Amino acid sequence: MTAPEKQMRLVIVGATGMVGGYALRYALDHPAVGCVTAIGRRALGISHRKLKEILHHDFADCSTLAEPLSGQDAVVFCLGTYTGSVSDVKLRTITAGYTIEFARVLRTSSSTAAFSFLRFPSGHWLMEEKPALTSAALKDFFGN
Ligand SMILES: NC(=O)c1ccc[n+]([C@@H]2O[C@H](COP(=O)([O-])OP(=O)(O)OC[C@H]3O[C@@H](n4cnc5c(N)ncnc54)[C@H](OP(=O)(O)O)[C@@H]3O)[C@@H](O)[C@H]2O)c1
Repeated sequence: MTAPEKQMRLVIVGATGMVGGYALRYALDHPAVGCVTAIGRRALGISHRKLKEILHHDFADCSTLAEPLSGQDAVVFCLGTYTGSVSDVKLRTITAGYTIEFARVLRTSSSTAAFSFLRFPSGHWLMEEKPALTSAALKDFFGN
């Protein structure tokens, strides 16, 4: 496959996980993607000419991600956890709180970037995509 003229700049959050890892491998192999910025709390342990890695330890505050999130075309947000693996309060913090906080900074840095994230509405998972999502809209979405 030949690369298109304008390649996409993509961010993947949680690429050390199973879903994020698949997204990462797919993106690195895809000619339409020119640059992948992987953001997570642990190093991936791989290198690739298209890959930039940002270590970020506290997703309750994503302010320091403003610069790496500027000029991006799309984000695939795969950070998450499972029911029963953490307390219900922590589950909500990770699932809703971290997603809303990340979207807040993304909106400031790349206001038109597409934002995809996983949710569990009624017994099955969906990948949602919201272009230029506001934190307020996400709070409504998560029922805050
Ligand atoms: N696997 C499935 O079949 C499936 C299906 C539908 C939906 N989902 C949902 O999709 C999401 C990802 O699933 P997965 O299977 O890829 O999960 P996973 O393998 O456990 O990966 C989760 C990712 O989130 C990160 N993470 C978790 N808690 C964090 C925290 N407190 N701070 C920072 N990073 C944190 C992990 O980082 P570390 O590597 O550092 O732990 C990892 O990158 C989850 O919400 C899951 O419930 C999964």
